[in-house]
Amino acid sequence: MSKTNLKFNNGTFKILQVSDFQDGPVQKYLTMEYVLKCVEEYKPDIILITGDNKYSTTGTELFKFMGKHFITKTYDSFMLKFEESGIPVAITFGNHDIDGKLSRREQFEIFKKYSVCVSEAGDEKLDGCCNFNLPVMSSDGKKVAFNIWCFDSNDGVLDDKLDWYVRTSDELKNKNGGQPVPSMVFQHHPPLQAIQAVEEAGDNLNGFCHEGVCPDPEDKGKQFDVMLEQGDVVAMFYGHDHINTYCVPYKGIDLACCSTSGFGYYGDFDTRGLRYITVKEDGTYETEMVYYYKKFCNDEKSKARFTMYSNELDMNVRKKAADEYKEFCKKDGTYSKAVDKEIKIALD
Ligand SMILES: [Fe+2]
Repeated sequence: MSKTNLKFNNGTFKILQVSDFQDGPVQKYLTMEYVLKCVEEYKPDIILITGDNKYSTTGTELFKFMGKHFITKTYDSFMLKFEESGIPVAITFGNHDIDGKLSRREQFEIFKKYSVCVSEAGDEKLDGCCNFNLPVMSSDGKKVAFNIWCFDSNDGVLDDKLDWYVRTSDELKNKNGGQPVPSMVFQHHPPLQAIQAVEEAGDNLNGFCHEGVCPDPEDKGKQFDVMLEQGDVVAMFYGHDHINTYCVPYKGIDLACCSTSGFGYYGDFDTRGLRYITVKEDGTYETEMVYYYKKFCNDEKSKARFTMYSNELDMNVRKKAADEYKEFCKKDGTYSKAVDKEIKIALD
């Protein structure tokens, strides 16, 4: 799939951001069930995955010995489903993607094999992998109307990546009659300034901030400042903090967190979900979080199922919910051995 295929349709370009699946080779079933329901409903033009694409290899003894095979199976568990949708997918890397036996460039080689993948490895001289941009053409196909920046925010977005960003941004600007091309940033970590932005917003914060904002330790604030000066970035979208979903304006750039979109690691009932963004051709945009529990759990059975999957809860609570879920399945005639298998994977 070529990145040149990205364009506005009737003046709108739609993005689904998912983040922090942070799961193993057998992904929790409910993750992609919800994600694909959203893909079907929102029909995005692109899906952006903002890192922590796999379980940390430092977390579990067993995973330390698993290399390419484990990681390929992990990525297969969601990318093959995205492949069926035919929608372009771009990925970036998070802090849990940098450990283990495969480098980020080797992991990128796995992603590259999926036909829907529009990520690029980026310049080898730049720190990390998948520092790239995706220009989006206007509805009439005549000019670049919008641009997506993807960064590897591990170890900060520092001088080498920022030099590339300014150079490429200037090239886009020159081709756009001297006007900056409206752009959005997608990466794993929040920028340092998000701490101050959330603090200043206080009770007026739009969305949840259930845990401390946690930028990469190497981020001393330069990325945000350089982007502000460059004048093309309207918003930065990121993940990393699994139970934060705020979107806060700060000095002219919106800073927006997406919570975990999966059940591989900790999340919360009111925050687990994904982010939907609609961009207009004039560079304005709207965004909302789609919260899974609120949207999909309208009955006792689906609530029990969600609880059973909720990684952050006490195991006794989850086991009790699993029993309830099984009973609901028996009552409504949907019980089979597959339900037992699902429960085993959910509680694993
Ligand atoms: Fe994460």
